[in-house]
Amino acid sequence: MTLTTDLHAFLRTRRSIRRFKPDPVPDSVLRDILHTATFAPSAHHRQPWRLVALTKSEAKKRLAQSMAAEFERDLQKDGLAQEIVTRRVQKSKERINSAPIVVILCLDMSEMDNYPDAQRQRAEHLIATQSVANAGLQLLLAAHAEGLGGVWVCSPIFAQAIVQTALNLEKNWEPQAMLLIGYPLEIPEVRPRKPIEEVVKIL
Ligand SMILES: Cc1cc2nc3c(=O)[nH]c(=O)nc-3n(C[C@H](O)[C@H](O)[C@H](O)COP(=O)(O)O)c2cc1C
Repeated sequence: MTLTTDLHAFLRTRRSIRRFKPDPVPDSVLRDILHTATFAPSAHHRQPWRLVALTKSEAKKRLAQSMAAEFERDLQKDGLAQEIVTRRVQKSKERINSAPIVVILCLDMSEMDNYPDAQRQRAEHLIATQSVANAGLQLLLAAHAEGLGGVWVCSPIFAQAIVQTALNLEKNWEPQAMLLIGYPLEIPEVRPRKPIEEVVKIL
């Protein structure tokens, strides 16, 4: 094994982990993985990510409760049977409450460039969002390096104002996603990947 083959193996063994042991994550480990996330590349090196780590059950509960109410309204609007709505909402709350750490991944546009036209402004917002996603992946990989597991959950982007209010966040911290992190209860099988011929062109 060389460093290179080890790194490939490391990257290919990351899994989305959705069930966790109740064991707490030491504070120093949490700080280390958050720090490593900030070494991700970002557009103009503006580092537009903002990371809000929830470790206390009270904060997670507040978030889960607020998001559940919005999720329930959305599912009802979709016309789902109330029984299904209740089950899905309950599951979503349990996922947040049972994760040892919940990291809300936010985007702050305030130090990005401003353009007078909508097209370039949209592109600027996109490159900032891409930068935040880089930090999110880097956090998942840093967690993997520590024997932790995590999963990217997209629901906060559908409930940005609700997440901001529940956690009393600054208005310019726009929630993009949340990462649930903890020691894995189980390691799932690798999910099959599309053949590279289908997704790659070498010209
Ligand atoms: C942008 C994004 C959004 C995702 N949203 C969710 C989600 O809301 N809930 C969830 O359980 N997994 C979510 N995932 C995780 C994917 O389902 C997972 O990465 C994919 O199935 C591949 O599995 P793997 O990560 O174990 O390789 C998301 C991943 C990404 C990158």
